[in-house]
Amino acid sequence: MVAPITVRKKIKAFNEIINVNGDKSLSIRWALLASQAEGKSRAYNLLRSLDVLSTLDCLKKLGIKVYLKKKYCEIEGNGLNGFKVKNNTILNAGNSGTLGRLILGLLVHSKSKIKIIGDKSLSKRDFSRVIIPLKKFGAKFKYNSNYKLPIEVFGADNARPIKYSEVKGSAQCKSAVMLAALNTIGETSIKAKKSRDHTEILFKYLKIPIKLIKNKKKYMGEQVADIFVEGANKIKSINCPKYLNSQAIDEFLLIFLVAAKADGVSYFKDISELNQKESPRLKLGSKILNMMGIKTILTNNSIKIYGNPELRIENKIEVKNYLKDHRIFMMSMIAALSIGGNWKLHDPDSIKTSFPSFLNLIKKFQKSPK
Ligand code: S3P
Repeated sequence: MVAPITVRKKIKAFNEIINVNGDKSLSIRWALLASQAEGKSRAYNLLRSLDVLSTLDCLKKLGIKVYLKKKYCEIEGNGLNGFKVKNNTILNAGNSGTLGRLILGLLVHSKSKIKIIGDKSLSKRDFSRVIIPLKKFGAKFKYNSNYKLPIEVFGADNARPIKYSEVKGSAQCKSAVMLAALNTIGETSIKAKKSRDHTEILFKYLKIPIKLIKNKKKYMGEQVADIFVEGANKIKSINCPKYLNSQAIDEFLLIFLVAAKADGVSYFKDISELNQKESPRLKLGSKILNMMGIKTILTNNSIKIYGNPELRIENKIEVKNYLKDHRIFMMSMIAALSIGGNWKLHDPDSIKTSFPSFLNLIKKFQKSPK
């Protein structure tokens, strides 16, 4: 067990240039796709977080050579369906839903029985969302009645393409099916509710033939921009339109903090998916806001946040038993540093799954006042 962290001081304005780490979703996808290529692929600035390292470990167990160097990572793929697997191989996806779900898409042809396991948090998460469509390709699965890990997969002898309708706005579901389609002769068609598009961007970049019918925007690479943010004296509350949900799904906890300082009541609806993350994130996010003295009205799929621009935190706040959800940890740390109060944050090692340099960066900012 790692000792809790206490934060008792707000952070002062700082002057630093930040080189951001590689993105988790892209790093995992790069590794999975590189494993399907013939020969060596190289990635610079690959995120070295536990979720990405779990991905590399799983690929090694599937017979893929991985060379993790100081500045880059190389993966030597064996081509499509080129995994070399011993029967009863166990793959540990650790904390990563993206890895656990996407890798199943690459195993729809596996000739051997492969078991996927995960940590306590991942073992509570739903896998029916990928098992159901992947079964249509012909893959066989063994799972318990609630579709949770551990799950066994046996590939299909003759996988067939499918028609799939993705209704949750989940990039993971869409991507698992895209990876299965990559390994399956014939045309798979996916009608998907809008969600993050890292896989489409990488497929396009690799010239894997996909036609994007709904989303007509042309991406040759991820869209990037310089972002200038000017602080506002007054933050207004928001009635968040539903169509933004899947694009902001990982940012909601931070948006909730902004809503906590806004003038008025903010409303976020149709976000039950937040409770399906590494923790029941909607519930826990609301609980933290309450501990900060912010009133919320919570349902299974919505939250109303009664903002208070004058918010001051007087009481002690202890954040624990949050299933080591890295985003709950980040939310708490950012609240402590920006709003103040006396916080005790348990399980600071949670952050290692996605942003191992987070605490060092904060220390650096604390040392470089503007
Ligand atoms: C991710 C998709 C999102 C997101 C997760 C990463 C991905 O999950 O919450 O952190 O890499 O595809 P869903 O697709 O389940 O919404």
